[in-house]
Amino acid sequence: MVQEFDAIIVGAGGAGLYAALEASRTARTAVVSKLYPQRSHTGAAQGGIGAALGNVEEDSPEWHAFDTVKGGDYLVDQNAAKILAEDAVRAVYDLENRGLPFSRLEDGKIAQRRFGGHTHHFGKGPVHRSCYAADRTGHMILQTLYQQCVKNDVQFFDEYQVVDLLLDGTTARGVVLFELKTGELHVFKAKAVLFATGGTGRMFKITSNALSNTGDGPAILARAGVPLEDMEFYQFHPTGILGMGILITEGVRGEGGILKNRDGERFMETYAPTMLDLAPRDMVSRAIMTEVAKGKGVRGDRKIDDYVWLDASHLGREVVEQKIPDIADFCKTYLGVDPAETPMPVQPTAHYAMGGIPTDVDGRVDTGKSVYDGLYAAGEAACVSVHGANRLGTNSLVDLIVYGRRAGRHIAEYVKNAPDVPASEKDADRARERLQRLRDRKGGRHVGPVMDRMQEVMMEKVGVYREQSEMDAAAAEIRKLREEFQEVTVQDHGAGFNAEVLQIMELENLLDLSLVTAVSAANRTESRGAHSRKDFPDRDDDNWLKHTMATLAGDTVSIDYKPVDISIWEPKPRTY
Ligand code: FUM
Repeated sequence: MVQEFDAIIVGAGGAGLYAALEASRTARTAVVSKLYPQRSHTGAAQGGIGAALGNVEEDSPEWHAFDTVKGGDYLVDQNAAKILAEDAVRAVYDLENRGLPFSRLEDGKIAQRRFGGHTHHFGKGPVHRSCYAADRTGHMILQTLYQQCVKNDVQFFDEYQVVDLLLDGTTARGVVLFELKTGELHVFKAKAVLFATGGTGRMFKITSNALSNTGDGPAILARAGVPLEDMEFYQFHPTGILGMGILITEGVRGEGGILKNRDGERFMETYAPTMLDLAPRDMVSRAIMTEVAKGKGVRGDRKIDDYVWLDASHLGREVVEQKIPDIADFCKTYLGVDPAETPMPVQPTAHYAMGGIPTDVDGRVDTGKSVYDGLYAAGEAACVSVHGANRLGTNSLVDLIVYGRRAGRHIAEYVKNAPDVPASEKDADRARERLQRLRDRKGGRHVGPVMDRMQEVMMEKVGVYREQSEMDAAAAEIRKLREEFQEVTVQDHGAGFNAEVLQIMELENLLDLSLVTAVSAANRTESRGAHSRKDFPDRDDDNWLKHTMATLAGDTVSIDYKPVDISIWEPKPRTY
């Protein structure tokens, strides 16, 4: 049976829920998600939302926009950053009005803390800008938006995996979904479809990302011929729990936590004399890797998996328990370490995709050459681009609530006049045949080893530091793994809750995106933000101040470019 809506939102994280909330003002809106909404990865965002409320000290949206542009190493589209910073203030108060339980200052105002790369007076020093709910800010956003959506009669389809997009030329007309409970396929038709499927961090071995972050939206759009923007820019958060990658919020450093090497030295004094531990993430991750390479990691063996200390023990038990309680719990559970007493062992962890599905500032898919009708993206799956080559901490939550909302508002208007779109059961045929081919395979390979190898290759060769031979080798190996993928065979032939079939589909998405990422990275012969090359250590504005647009066709990734909007600030060298 074909189900009909005005708008379908794929993904129930912060961007998807905010878009659904706005769209549902005029549109019959469905949210489909492979998870239960409250389990979306937005819930893992800990440290806060950047907004220039000025509750602790003087601040301004202009400084926030400037920090975003500079933090992104000038690959940010500047008008989009201006909208982000200006609208962040309204968005935070909107969430407060909708019931989000922010932490408070003594005077009752929303509490704010320092975060990496956020400064006052255009870089003079750190500023208190991150609005937080202890270290559970993302979790609170999800709860708040979900209950508002329920109130607005948004229909939720939980545990439905998106497997295909229905497009007529450049007009969206629905999606095909795989129901996890039954294994059945469903056609959902709608005049507007928004992808808010989150990140792609599972392409790396050490990551802060949930198991579900497999880039389903970008991969489906890439296979539909939509070019992906700036995929070479992948952020490594400096402080993941050693060996596991679980996030330890930058809020720890915002509260005064200090990074130290094996000799107890505060090494960030060397790399960022003004901002110290609160320099942007790309710089702090590189500083950690450089300390390790110098033999100053805790083990001192110069191996890539050596680590440093994050010390919060001087902050006192009260600060730790009130301001970073979840972190304290994680450290006790996974490491047997109490951060109020003992430094935490940390290493960089794959955290955030700056690139993704190209959109305009209203969330419409926009390749720079054509705009799709009724097709939208928002959140980490999208590239507006407000993060450029390196996202500032807290700006992911700002992106979700500012651009998720804008996309939802655009959808609410668009569906009023958009023509009806056709859809029938036959629209599921392509997905049905693909699933059948998968189930009929005889190759005998298991999904796990292919996934593991992809994650190792991406971590080792397309990680914090990169060079040509490594990235070329990664692309070659990913191509080989895509061939091996054709022999991955389903062992479990049950229909209901078949996690293996789901994992195979997710692996296909990750392999496609790994190839696009490795080829885009190998192509960019400069260092900028999170794309740091040993063989081309300098930023090259003359040749590379442009967005990459990478189109996947079979085994080939072809590269084109789109200009960067530098209408407000001239690019300058980055110092912190
Ligand atoms: O460090 C953190 O709390 C992460 C925040 C973010 O990625 O914006």
